[in-house]
Amino acid sequence: MYRIAVIPGDGVGSEVIREGLKVLEAVGEVENIEFDFVEYPFGGQHYISTGELLPDDALEEIKRMKAIFFGSVGDPRVKPGVLEQGILLKIRFYYDQYINLRPVKLYPSIECPLRGERDIDFYVVRENTEDFYVGIGDRFKGRKSKIELDVLRELYNLKFNIDVESDGSEEIAYQIGVISKEGAKRVIEYAFELAIARDKKKVTSVDKANVLTHIYSLWRDVFEDVAGGYPEVETEYTFVDAITMFFLSRPEKYKVVVTPNMFGDIITDLGAQIQGGIGLASSGNINPTGVSMFEPVHGSAPDIAGKGIVNPIAQIMAGALMLQSLGEDRAGALIEKSVEEVLRERRFRTPDLGGNSSTEEMGNVIAEKVKELRR
Ligand code: NAD
Ligand code: IPM
Ligand code: MN
Repeated sequence: MYRIAVIPGDGVGSEVIREGLKVLEAVGEVENIEFDFVEYPFGGQHYISTGELLPDDALEEIKRMKAIFFGSVGDPRVKPGVLEQGILLKIRFYYDQYINLRPVKLYPSIECPLRGERDIDFYVVRENTEDFYVGIGDRFKGRKSKIELDVLRELYNLKFNIDVESDGSEEIAYQIGVISKEGAKRVIEYAFELAIARDKKKVTSVDKANVLTHIYSLWRDVFEDVAGGYPEVETEYTFVDAITMFFLSRPEKYKVVVTPNMFGDIITDLGAQIQGGIGLASSGNINPTGVSMFEPVHGSAPDIAGKGIVNPIAQIMAGALMLQSLGEDRAGALIEKSVEEVLRERRFRTPDLGGNSSTEEMGNVIAEKVKELRR
């Protein structure tokens, strides 16, 4: 029996979660896996009506569960960052989910201009607790006493003649990225282990060590150290600007890509498009010895929320990732096979993939396929 916390969240979150749960129930039925889904109301509406984001007692309660199945957060009525930081990032940090695993796989029946004759099938391993996501920084007017004051004075006094110690109307904002040796090591090691386990013996490190010389030189040093322990794995360094180009020109060359947090965020939306669209991209926020969370790469998609047309496959495939991480490999593979088969048949597709099926229809068809494939 798996006790799973379910957080549908905002916008399309509840629409895709419904189908994700439907498919998990179907798999549970045929594979004899029992789930106890415990749903939580956290998100924009809950915040607006109660002022609560994600209370400590919920975090403590979820600590005793097997995983979190997450939809998406983000509500146009709430200032950007409040829900994202207060709920999603809070969970990633609280449970120290330091790996963000984002598979990029282009299924044979999906149209994509990049396809050609190539096999596109790689993983992005995104560091998930450091970098520019640590939240250190400030935005202020006039007087502020901080250790950074000297730096700011030097930079801004010289450039704009701003007196950072006055109470004037000048404004300054800054935000700091942090990489630690341990933080880099554990995620880079995971990337190498993944490369071995999945027989994808090449790891590409993506950074911007040519400009952000402090934080990403440390990242590179750690990468080199870890790589030394895996002589059978090919390695390369690519700057983040260049990888956006190479993802389009030669996506088949990538096996495992490991990258700090923010670049990982950006290049996995590109990765989603490489695999046929954001409606297909799923993601695992993993702590190998703790509580992990599984979610789509996409957000709450306010532009299509409530219309019943959002593609639920990213959420459904997040369910497959969750089962794999619970050690239910066969059940996870069954979800993947069912999705692949439904896509191959081309009878049902949501509008983002050129069809006119509804979200619910897609969920039904995939849940049916799960049962059919096991018969
Ligand atoms: P988004 O991913 O929500 O949407 C980008 C575009 O992709 C939109 O046009 C949307 O309609 C489309 N799209 C997304 N998912 C789709 C699906 N499954 N099927 C079909 N089309 C889909 O990104 P955004 O517009 O930049 O952000 C909207 C909100 O979501 C913001 O508040 C943002 O902070 C939040 N967000 C949350 C998460 C998360 O919870 N993990 C991730 C990304 C963005
Ligand atoms: C993602 C999202 C989040 C991120 C936001 C909503 C905090 O874009 O999961 O990709 O930047 O990690
Ligand atoms: Mn993102």
